[in-house]
Amino acid sequence: MYLIRVEGDKMSKDLDTLLREKRIFKPSSDVVKSSNIHKWMEKHEINDYDELLQKALDNPDWFWDELAGELEWFKQYKKTKKWNPPYAEWFLDGKFNIVYNALDKHAKGPEKDKLAYIWEGESGEVRELTYLDLYREVNRFANVLKKLGVRKGDTVSIYLPMILELPIAMLACAKIGAVHSVVFSGFWAKAFQERINDAKSKVAITVDGFRRRGKLIELKENVDNILDKTPTIEKLIVVRHEGLNINMQEGKDIWWHEAITEMETECKTEEMDSEDPLFILYTSGTTGKPKGVVHVHGGYAVGIYTTLKFVFDLKEDDVWWCAADIGWVTGHSYIVYGPLLLGVTSILYEGTPDYPDPGRLWKMIENYGVTVFYTAPTTIRMFMKFGEKWPQKYNLDSLRLLGTVGEPINPEAWIWYHQHIGGGRCPVMDTWWQTETGMHIITPLPISELKPGSAVKPFPTVEADVLDDAGKSITGGGGHLVIKSTWPSMFRTLYKDPERYVESYWSRFPNIYLSGDVARRDDEGYFWIQGREDDVLNVAGHRISTAEVESAIVSHKSVAEAAVVGKPHDIKGEEICAFVILKEGSGSTEDFEDIIKYHVRKEIGPIASPAHVKIVKDLPKTRSGKIMRRVIKAKVKGEPVGDTSTLANPEAVEYL
Ligand code: WTA
Repeated sequence: MYLIRVEGDKMSKDLDTLLREKRIFKPSSDVVKSSNIHKWMEKHEINDYDELLQKALDNPDWFWDELAGELEWFKQYKKTKKWNPPYAEWFLDGKFNIVYNALDKHAKGPEKDKLAYIWEGESGEVRELTYLDLYREVNRFANVLKKLGVRKGDTVSIYLPMILELPIAMLACAKIGAVHSVVFSGFWAKAFQERINDAKSKVAITVDGFRRRGKLIELKENVDNILDKTPTIEKLIVVRHEGLNINMQEGKDIWWHEAITEMETECKTEEMDSEDPLFILYTSGTTGKPKGVVHVHGGYAVGIYTTLKFVFDLKEDDVWWCAADIGWVTGHSYIVYGPLLLGVTSILYEGTPDYPDPGRLWKMIENYGVTVFYTAPTTIRMFMKFGEKWPQKYNLDSLRLLGTVGEPINPEAWIWYHQHIGGGRCPVMDTWWQTETGMHIITPLPISELKPGSAVKPFPTVEADVLDDAGKSITGGGGHLVIKSTWPSMFRTLYKDPERYVESYWSRFPNIYLSGDVARRDDEGYFWIQGREDDVLNVAGHRISTAEVESAIVSHKSVAEAAVVGKPHDIKGEEICAFVILKEGSGSTEDFEDIIKYHVRKEIGPIASPAHVKIVKDLPKTRSGKIMRRVIKAKVKGEPVGDTSTLANPEAVEYL
């Protein structure tokens, strides 16, 4: 990787410098020539990146047919896609199961003894599973689910930390045609309760407990507190991970390890329709109610297989580490399904990246010879703060490619990552995508010239654009980031909320996908993502809606009203600031700051707990009573509040 051009001014720490970043890095010819995409282009007589993008845009069905052909179909599909915006169907009339391709195929092939996962616990304990081991474990657990009456189309709710039983449970569901709904283990059990009730699961899965930063989290005990509010649950399967002495409810709770003992290691893989649902994953939108994003077997598999193969260039001998949590889409696509579809070895790490010291990740990269590493900008910024002495202690020569996801990366963090982790030789794939897109949408390929801070260009066949308010395509200025085409791993709907699917994503510009992000495209067609345009926060790469946090706060009995806004933060990108009006006679306001933080922690989880809580007498409102978040945001950022003439109570600005 070498610098080929520098123009303009040098950088400061500010994200605004994204607008002025002018450095360009070119991958070395070794990187280019050995890449999967280069070989594929040679096969199809495509000469360069631009030609690839043009050819794919002109012939999207050709592109996806080629890649879908690398997977195995029980019955060949008849039609590549039906695109009747906003509704897409892909690989119509095909019979397929993602698990057949991710697992069954490998367990029967020469790669059966290859490691699928190397798991490392926070305390340093290691567990390894070959493809054959994983296949057997998945089959045994799939037989447990069947025995408990789980059938094709049923939804199973899963609340597990980063342990091997999590991918095993997901794959077991998919194998028998059940739909999994995984709830991030960092959420409080109430989120699990709401998602179980939304999906009406009969069976749920959790763990006795796990450790974060050495601290024990007793998940089963938390789940016990909500189970009386989940009437559909008949059985709760509990993984014994920490060996805790927990209460097991007779007739309802089942130990995972006991349930699998008598099970066969073979289980039939259900032949699914390409369009049958694979999973629901809830994500934050602009209202307090999370959206259940639905993905399907066929298109989703083809999309993530292709992106992982071409963007992260994975090959047979790679050791891949996507250091995300499986509870988010990044983990679903690129820890569980993607790497297994490609048959590579992945690292699964249970714990916190800087525990017990800031050398943890780098030590693991050295120990396991990790070749491709994928993490979030917030993690990189945290390690920048710890200093390069930590990565310098370890040999990171095995790395050949790096990636980031989740939020905009500031050029300074990009350069640090490239230099101190990638040794100046590893291209950095800044991948922009969302729970809804399922796969990378705007991303470099290893053959692309890179500009630090830019997610480069749309993946082949994807037609992304930046529109002004009137819907006109613009270059240079910031605008709405949209997608005008369909892609195979596009979400198909919002679970039980088809109207919201249309209204949230496809109505602002009719039949064009509205991402909710603001972006800028420069005159070379590079995309620079600037962040959310709606009331969704991005805290350390986690999507959190202000409305969700507000409704958690007002659920406290002493709270009358609340307004939540994001405040820029050096490491986390944004942090949560809450302004709260208490009910009359609630007592000392000082105590309330901590009480509210704790309350949100319990209602949603630590990631949503506000960094700052301020008790105020009033909030700025319009005459119709709507809280003026714009004014609060400006105040928090220290910017001019602008016109307050439409406020019913301009004096409220002073309280903030
Ligand atoms: C943000 C995570 C800038 C963006 C895969 C998006 C990014 C939201 C990037 C989706 C990136 C993700 N550069 N911003 N490379 N990747 N985002 O659904 O705001 O958890 O809309 O999916 O993260 O978050 P989600």
